[in-house]
Amino acid sequence: MNQEARRVNVTLETKIECMDLGEEVARRVAMTAGFDEDEQHKICMAVRECLINALQHGNRQDPRKPIGLSFVLHPDRLVVQIRDQGKGFDLAAISDPLAEKHLMKSSGRGLFLVRCFMDELQVESGRNGGAVVTMTKRYSSNHNGQVGAEVEKERQQ
Ligand SMILES: Nc1ncnc2c1ncn2[C@@H]1O[C@H](COP(=O)(O)OP(=O)(O)OP(=O)(O)O)[C@@H](O)[C@H]1O
Ligand SMILES: [Mg+2]
Repeated sequence: MNQEARRVNVTLETKIECMDLGEEVARRVAMTAGFDEDEQHKICMAVRECLINALQHGNRQDPRKPIGLSFVLHPDRLVVQIRDQGKGFDLAAISDPLAEKHLMKSSGRGLFLVRCFMDELQVESGRNGGAVVTMTKRYSSNHNGQVGAEVEKERQQ
C-alpha cells in the first residue's frame, strides 16, 4: 500500500440509492481499516445520517448537485468527510434532542447519533459554499492493528 492508497474519494449523485452505495463503501473502508463489526456498524450509521442530511437539507434532493464522500486512513484514525452544495449550517446552533421540549419530536436526532458513534464531529463551510462535515473515528484497543501498523511503517519510510 503506498501513500496514495490511503485515501478514498467518491462522488455520489443526490439520489437515495446512491446513499446506500455510499454506506456500502463506508463499510468496506471500515473493514479494511481493521475496525471490528460493532465499530463498522457505527461508522456506517454515522455516514448514512450525514449522507441523508446532505441529500435532504444540503442539496435539497436536487439530482444535479453532487455529494462528495472521502475517507482518509491515518495510522491511528479514520477521517470521513461529506461535502454538499447547500447553504451550510452551524453545528453549535443545532438544538439538543435530549432537551425536554424536543423529546417528543420524531426528527432531529441524526447528528446526536453521529456524535455518539464517532469520536469527533466538525462542520465547516466549503470553499464554494456547502457544508463540509468531518467525522473522526480512532482505532480502539480491539482494532485489528495490522492495517494501522502497515500504514505507520510506510509513513516512516
Ligand atoms: N448538510 C446539511 N446542510 C444544511 N443543514 C443541515 C445539514 N445537516 C444537518 N443540517 C441541519 O441540522 C439539523 C439537525 O440535523 P439532524 O440530522 O440531527 O436532524 P434531522 O435531519 O432534522 O432529523 P433526523 O436526522 O433525526 O431525521 C437539520 O434539521 C438541519 O437543519
Ligand atoms: Mg438528519
